[in-house]
Amino acid sequence: MRILVTGGTGYIGSHTVLALLDAGYDVLIADNYVNSKPEALRRICKLAGQDVPFALCDLRSEAETFKLFAENTDIEAVIHFAGLKAVGESVHEPLLYFDNNLKSTLNLLKAMQEYGVHSFVFSSSATVYGDPASLPIREDAALHVASPYGRTKLMIEDILRDVAHADPALRVSILRYFNPVGAHPSGMIGEDPNGIPNNLMPFIAQVAVGKLDYLPVYGDDYDTPDGTGVRDYIHVCDLAEGHVSALKALTAPGVYTFNLGTGHGYSVLDIVHAYETACGHAIPYAIKPRRSGDIAACFADPAHAREGLHWEATRGLADMCKDSWNFQHNNPDGYSND
Ligand code: NAD
Ligand code: UFG
Repeated sequence: MRILVTGGTGYIGSHTVLALLDAGYDVLIADNYVNSKPEALRRICKLAGQDVPFALCDLRSEAETFKLFAENTDIEAVIHFAGLKAVGESVHEPLLYFDNNLKSTLNLLKAMQEYGVHSFVFSSSATVYGDPASLPIREDAALHVASPYGRTKLMIEDILRDVAHADPALRVSILRYFNPVGAHPSGMIGEDPNGIPNNLMPFIAQVAVGKLDYLPVYGDDYDTPDGTGVRDYIHVCDLAEGHVSALKALTAPGVYTFNLGTGHGYSVLDIVHAYETACGHAIPYAIKPRRSGDIAACFADPAHAREGLHWEATRGLADMCKDSWNFQHNNPDGYSND
């Protein structure tokens, strides 16, 4: 069974490609390298011990997307990671986000309809829950978004519900990721952000390796045990395996929505201290004002995924930090540019 993995050279996509190959699926990656590099593909192939098929394709182009399906008529399912994901950038460039994330998804859904592909797994985000009224967050919690990025996720979820309503053959799995961190245990693939990282763990990783001087901790006056923000960090390899489980579970038409998280909340300072243990030295940090748009705490109720996907995260915080550090230490400047 061949799976089209859009965004398959990106952070989560690259780990998922390896999990799919491990589970015996054939894969076709489609990416335009807007936020990833050919070096990621070379490393995926090396780790997989095979040439993984790749198509350079900008999914914003309907013609390119249709050509992809016309040339690969064995595609049986799509896992759609491709998208822009920087919350702050989306506030300044909303049209870029609506254009890229919505158009890509519409083109894929049209091509799937044309070529009779009925299974679709979508990368959504816990950002669709906004500031949750209660914790842990269940899938039936109210949805609110605070950024254009978040709005693209919610709009795509709504589009998928409408399209599936009109197409009785369509099988859709919406996966709402909490905070993916860590890297493949080989240290060969991991997160390779452009410029200064926006997210906590890649920022800490660059402080740990000496590329950044200290971590700004955005707020220590939240209503949390130590006053810093609490999130549900999930190892990217657990997340990747969650996609394999979601694909296996997609046996009947309809739209199925799952949280992919661990159910445990850790504070910013918990992460700093766990990382210090992983890298063997102190991580300098300084308390700064709260970051605009941040919430105090966010963690998943993972019960629905456990029951519906027969999947749960197995790797703990120590593994997340160890594997992040292993990748950062082996690749202080990320992937090469050639
Ligand atoms: P990433 O940026 O590393 O990977 C996304 C990939 O999509 C990149 O390789 C990029 O080049 C590609 N891409 C983007 N637009 C494209 C287009 N028009 N055509 C072809 N390829 C295109 O991001 P990631 O962290 O791996 O995230 C994957 C998905 O998961 C995204 O949809 C993201 O919004 C979602 N998500 C990520 C997080 C997170 O914290 N990393 C959390 C929740 C949801
Ligand atoms: N933080 C710092 N300093 C930093 C970066 C982050 O203190 O330099 C804090 C934040 O204030 C927050 C926590 O670390 O309390 C986590 O922040 P991240 O930026 O790593 O993650 P967020 O929870 O803010 O957002 C992430 C993704 C979103 C996604 C959301 C839910 O960036 O795209 O998780 O999945 F929507």
